[in-house]
Amino acid sequence: MARPLLISPSILAADFAVLGEEVRALDAGGADWIHIDVMDGHFVPNISFGVPVMQSIRSVTKKPFDVHLMISPVDSFLESFAKAGADGITVHAEAGPHLDRSLQAIRALGKRAGVSLNPSTPVSAIRHVLDRLDLVLVMTVNPGFGGQAFIPAMLEKIAEVRELVRGRNIDIEVDGGITPETARSVVKAGANVLVAGSNIFKSKDYAAAIKALRVGAESISA
Ligand code: DX5
Ligand code: ZN
Repeated sequence: MARPLLISPSILAADFAVLGEEVRALDAGGADWIHIDVMDGHFVPNISFGVPVMQSIRSVTKKPFDVHLMISPVDSFLESFAKAGADGITVHAEAGPHLDRSLQAIRALGKRAGVSLNPSTPVSAIRHVLDRLDLVLVMTVNPGFGGQAFIPAMLEKIAEVRELVRGRNIDIEVDGGITPETARSVVKAGANVLVAGSNIFKSKDYAAAIKALRVGAESISA
């Protein structure tokens, strides 16, 4: 059975001067999850924000926080993100030598465990940790910045992940360059959770932008 389609807007593209209002607007606009991009200026060539910022918006919404950690090393930070209100925590397969241990730690904290793959990382990197996974995040751009162009070669990768996780209770998420047009292709390939930053925030009407992503994604049967 197909997994439900979920839209997870990335607050990386929000106006940080009024971040609470932005999150409230995403919630009211129909976001399923809130995607939180944490960057360390080391694993990726950009710095975003960390635990205190996430903690300060936790009281604004009840929607699940989908936390994407682009940091290395990551293990020592898992507990603080869990305590600050993460619902799912995604680490990068490339961020350290002990992915299996990181995923066990996330589950031990009572959170959903996700793994993210950079565009050049083969799907085989997750083959032996499937039992520890609730989500696979296929990066459809090189992580570090919002507003980049979708990499079409990732469609084949999404389909490969779909085959690998078939029959398991695992979400397939995509992140980077998602628009109503690319939403259609990624959902057709097998994704069910769509992260979108600039596409939503460049719109004045977040509800309409979220709706347009759903309509785009659901047009696959057309
Ligand atoms: C990129 C981040 C993304 C980013 C997506 O490193 O992980 O979540 O915010 O931005 P858009 O949707 O603008 O490509
Ligand atoms: Zn992200």
